[in-house]
Amino acid sequence: MKKLFIIANWKANKTEDEMQIWLSEIKNLLGQNPDYGTGNKEIVVCPPFTHLAMIKKYVKTNNLPIRMGSQDISVFGRGAYTGEIPAALQHDFADFCIVGHSERRKNFNETDEIVAKKVEMAKAGGFLPIVCVQGEETPVPKDSVIVAYEPISAIGTGNPDTPESADKVASIIKEKSGAQYVIYGGSVTGENVNTFTQMPSIDGVLVGGASLDAEKFMQIIKNS
Ligand code: PGA
Repeated sequence: MKKLFIIANWKANKTEDEMQIWLSEIKNLLGQNPDYGTGNKEIVVCPPFTHLAMIKKYVKTNNLPIRMGSQDISVFGRGAYTGEIPAALQHDFADFCIVGHSERRKNFNETDEIVAKKVEMAKAGGFLPIVCVQGEETPVPKDSVIVAYEPISAIGTGNPDTPESADKVASIIKEKSGAQYVIYGGSVTGENVNTFTQMPSIDGVLVGGASLDAEKFMQIIKNS
Protein backbone atom coordinates (compact mmCIF):
# COMPACT_ATOMS: atom_id res chain seq x y z
CA MET A 1 0.00 0.00 0.00
CA LYS A 2 1.40 3.42 -0.88
CA LYS A 3 2.03 6.03 1.78
CA LEU A 4 -0.66 8.70 2.06
CA PHE A 5 -0.28 12.14 3.63
CA ILE A 6 -3.54 13.59 4.97
CA ILE A 7 -2.62 17.15 5.88
CA ALA A 8 -4.87 19.70 7.58
CA ASN A 9 -4.20 23.36 6.81
CA TRP A 10 -6.18 25.42 9.30
CA LYS A 11 -4.95 28.71 7.80
CA ALA A 12 -5.78 31.70 10.07
CA ASN A 13 -8.60 29.97 11.96
CA LYS A 14 -9.52 28.74 15.44
CA THR A 15 -9.41 30.48 18.78
CA GLU A 16 -8.02 28.63 21.79
CA ASP A 17 -11.50 27.38 22.74
CA GLU A 18 -12.32 26.22 19.21
CA MET A 19 -9.00 24.41 19.03
CA GLN A 20 -9.69 22.61 22.34
CA ILE A 21 -13.09 21.44 21.08
CA TRP A 22 -11.57 20.15 17.83
CA LEU A 23 -8.92 18.25 19.78
CA SER A 24 -11.37 16.50 22.07
CA GLU A 25 -13.56 15.60 19.10
CA ILE A 26 -10.69 14.19 17.07
CA LYS A 27 -9.46 12.26 20.10
CA ASN A 28 -12.87 10.60 20.47
CA LEU A 29 -13.14 9.87 16.76
CA LEU A 30 -9.63 8.42 16.55
CA GLY A 31 -10.38 6.41 19.68
CA GLN A 32 -13.31 4.80 17.90
CA ASN A 33 -11.14 4.03 14.89
CA PRO A 34 -7.74 3.08 16.30
CA ASP A 35 -6.39 1.98 12.92
CA TYR A 36 -6.57 5.42 11.34
CA GLY A 37 -3.39 7.35 11.28
CA THR A 38 -1.32 4.25 11.60
CA GLY A 39 -0.06 2.05 8.79
CA ASN A 40 0.17 3.84 5.48
CA LYS A 41 -1.65 7.04 6.51
CA GLU A 42 0.31 9.94 7.93
CA ILE A 43 -1.96 12.53 9.55
CA VAL A 44 -0.46 16.00 9.85
CA VAL A 45 -2.11 19.06 11.40
CA CYS A 46 -0.87 22.55 10.50
CA PRO A 47 -2.50 25.05 12.89
CA PRO A 48 -1.59 28.70 13.38
CA PHE A 49 1.74 29.11 15.21
CA THR A 50 -0.07 30.08 18.42
CA HIS A 51 -1.52 26.57 18.77
CA LEU A 52 1.49 24.46 17.80
CA ALA A 53 2.87 23.88 21.31
CA MET A 54 -0.51 23.13 22.86
CA ILE A 55 -1.57 20.66 20.16
CA LYS A 56 1.78 18.91 20.20
CA LYS A 57 1.48 18.41 23.96
CA TYR A 58 -2.09 17.16 23.68
CA VAL A 59 -1.20 14.73 20.91
CA LYS A 60 1.70 13.36 22.95
CA THR A 61 -0.25 13.07 26.20
CA ASN A 62 -3.11 11.28 24.49
CA ASN A 63 -0.91 9.23 22.22
CA LEU A 64 -2.73 10.34 19.07
CA PRO A 65 -1.33 9.37 15.65
CA ILE A 66 -0.98 12.99 14.55
CA ARG A 67 2.16 14.83 13.50
CA MET A 68 2.61 18.57 13.54
CA GLY A 69 3.24 21.05 10.77
CA SER A 70 3.50 24.83 10.60
CA GLN A 71 2.11 27.04 7.84
CA ASP A 72 5.17 29.12 7.07
CA ILE A 73 8.83 29.61 7.90
CA SER A 74 11.11 32.62 7.94
CA VAL A 75 13.70 33.26 5.26
CA PHE A 76 15.91 34.46 8.14
CA GLY A 77 17.60 32.61 10.95
CA ARG A 78 17.29 33.65 14.57
CA GLY A 79 18.11 37.21 15.49
CA ALA A 80 16.82 40.73 15.03
CA TYR A 81 13.82 39.95 12.81
CA THR A 82 10.78 41.16 14.75
CA GLY A 83 7.68 39.11 14.08
CA GLU A 84 9.45 36.29 12.25
CA ILE A 85 9.48 32.64 13.29
CA PRO A 86 12.66 30.97 12.06
CA ALA A 87 13.21 27.24 11.75
CA ALA A 88 15.22 27.01 14.96
CA LEU A 89 12.33 28.41 17.01
CA GLN A 90 9.60 26.24 15.56
CA HIS A 91 11.38 22.96 15.28
CA ASP A 92 10.56 21.93 18.84
CA PHE A 93 6.91 21.91 17.79
CA ALA A 94 6.70 20.72 14.19
CA ASP A 95 8.28 18.32 11.70
CA PHE A 96 6.51 19.61 8.60
CA CYS A 97 6.15 23.10 7.22
CA ILE A 98 3.89 24.41 4.47
CA VAL A 99 5.82 26.68 2.13
CA GLY A 100 4.62 28.87 -0.74
CA HIS A 101 0.88 28.50 -0.35
CA SER A 102 -0.88 30.55 -3.04
CA GLU A 103 -2.46 32.72 -0.34
CA ARG A 104 1.01 33.75 0.79
CA ARG A 105 2.19 34.30 -2.77
CA LYS A 106 -0.84 36.54 -3.38
CA ASN A 107 -1.19 38.39 -0.06
CA PHE A 108 2.44 38.60 1.00
CA ASN A 109 4.10 38.83 -2.41
CA GLU A 110 6.07 35.62 -1.97
CA THR A 111 8.02 35.07 -5.15
CA ASP A 112 9.46 31.79 -6.46
CA GLU A 113 12.83 32.98 -5.12
CA ILE A 114 11.42 33.54 -1.62
CA VAL A 115 9.71 30.15 -1.73
CA ALA A 116 13.00 28.50 -2.75
CA LYS A 117 14.80 30.28 0.13
CA LYS A 118 12.13 29.14 2.60
CA VAL A 119 12.46 25.55 1.39
CA GLU A 120 16.22 25.84 1.90
CA MET A 121 15.73 27.19 5.45
CA ALA A 122 13.15 24.51 6.23
CA LYS A 123 15.41 21.70 5.05
CA ALA A 124 18.46 23.08 6.82
CA GLY A 125 16.35 23.30 9.98
CA GLY A 126 15.33 19.66 9.78
CA PHE A 127 11.79 20.14 8.46
CA LEU A 128 10.00 18.28 5.72
CA PRO A 129 8.66 21.16 3.63
CA ILE A 130 5.27 20.79 1.95
CA VAL A 131 5.87 22.95 -1.10
CA CYS A 132 2.70 24.34 -2.68
CA VAL A 133 2.60 24.83 -6.44
CA GLN A 134 -0.30 26.01 -8.51
CA GLY A 135 0.40 24.03 -11.63
CA GLU A 136 3.10 22.18 -13.51
CA GLU A 137 4.70 25.51 -14.55
CA THR A 138 5.37 26.66 -10.98
CA PRO A 139 9.07 26.03 -10.25
CA VAL A 140 9.67 23.32 -7.66
CA PRO A 141 12.72 24.14 -5.50
CA LYS A 142 15.43 21.52 -5.66
CA ASP A 143 15.38 18.74 -3.08
CA SER A 144 11.65 19.16 -2.46
CA VAL A 145 10.22 15.96 -0.99
CA ILE A 146 6.50 16.69 -0.67
CA VAL A 147 4.90 18.92 -3.28
CA ALA A 148 1.25 19.96 -2.99
CA TYR A 149 -0.47 20.65 -6.30
CA GLU A 150 -3.18 23.21 -5.55
CA PRO A 151 -4.84 24.87 -8.55
CA ILE A 152 -6.07 28.32 -7.47
CA SER A 153 -9.51 27.80 -9.00
CA ALA A 154 -10.04 24.83 -6.66
CA ILE A 155 -9.04 26.44 -3.35
CA GLY A 156 -12.02 27.12 -1.11
CA THR A 157 -14.44 27.13 -4.03
CA GLY A 158 -16.11 23.74 -3.81
CA ASN A 159 -14.85 23.23 -7.34
CA PRO A 160 -12.00 20.67 -7.22
CA ASP A 161 -9.81 19.71 -10.13
CA THR A 162 -10.73 16.40 -11.75
CA PRO A 163 -8.77 13.42 -10.40
CA GLU A 164 -7.50 12.67 -13.93
CA SER A 165 -6.16 16.18 -14.44
CA ALA A 166 -4.64 16.28 -10.93
CA ASP A 167 -2.97 12.92 -11.50
CA LYS A 168 -1.51 14.07 -14.80
CA VAL A 169 -0.07 17.23 -13.23
CA ALA A 170 1.25 15.18 -10.28
CA SER A 171 3.08 12.81 -12.58
CA ILE A 172 4.60 15.69 -14.57
CA ILE A 173 5.75 17.37 -11.33
CA LYS A 174 7.35 14.12 -10.16
CA GLU A 175 9.09 13.62 -13.45
CA LYS A 176 10.36 17.20 -13.72
CA SER A 177 11.36 17.77 -10.09
CA GLY A 178 12.15 14.33 -8.75
CA ALA A 179 9.87 14.98 -5.76
CA GLN A 180 9.05 11.76 -3.96
CA TYR A 181 5.48 12.66 -3.05
CA VAL A 182 2.89 14.85 -4.73
CA ILE A 183 -0.35 15.53 -2.91
CA TYR A 184 -3.47 17.29 -4.16
CA GLY A 185 -5.24 20.24 -2.50
CA GLY A 186 -8.36 22.22 -3.35
CA SER A 187 -11.94 21.55 -2.14
CA VAL A 188 -11.15 18.06 -0.87
CA THR A 189 -14.04 16.46 1.05
CA GLY A 190 -14.88 13.10 2.56
CA GLU A 191 -16.93 12.42 -0.55
CA ASN A 192 -14.25 13.11 -3.16
CA VAL A 193 -11.00 12.26 -1.31
CA ASN A 194 -10.64 8.72 -2.57
CA THR A 195 -11.11 9.77 -6.20
CA PHE A 196 -7.80 11.58 -5.72
CA THR A 197 -5.92 9.23 -3.41
CA GLN A 198 -6.61 6.24 -5.64
CA MET A 199 -4.83 7.89 -8.57
CA PRO A 200 -1.35 6.42 -9.17
CA SER A 201 0.67 9.65 -8.89
CA ILE A 202 -1.20 11.25 -5.98
CA ASP A 203 0.15 10.54 -2.50
CA GLY A 204 -2.33 12.33 -0.28
CA VAL A 205 -4.27 15.53 0.19
CA LEU A 206 -3.88 19.02 1.66
CA VAL A 207 -7.20 19.97 3.23
CA GLY A 208 -8.28 23.51 4.13
CA GLY A 209 -11.94 24.19 4.92
CA ALA A 210 -12.97 20.60 5.64
CA SER A 211 -10.15 20.12 8.15
CA LEU A 212 -11.67 22.71 10.51
CA ASP A 213 -14.46 20.31 11.39
CA ALA A 214 -13.15 17.26 13.26
CA GLU A 215 -15.86 14.99 11.92
CA LYS A 216 -15.34 16.07 8.32
CA PHE A 217 -11.58 15.68 8.68
CA MET A 218 -12.05 12.21 10.15
CA GLN A 219 -14.25 11.31 7.20
CA ILE A 220 -11.42 12.34 4.89
CA ILE A 221 -8.93 10.22 6.83
CA LYS A 222 -11.30 7.28 6.77
CA ASN A 223 -12.22 7.49 3.09
CA SER A 224 -8.74 8.22 1.76
P1 PGA B 1 -9.61 24.09 0.69
O1 PGA B 1 -8.13 24.68 0.82
O2 PGA B 1 -9.56 22.64 1.09
O3 PGA B 1 -10.45 24.92 1.62
O4 PGA B 1 -10.02 24.25 -0.74
C1 PGA B 1 -7.01 23.91 0.49
C2 PGA B 1 -5.76 24.71 0.73
O5 PGA B 1 -5.75 25.92 0.49
O6 PGA B 1 -4.73 24.15 1.17
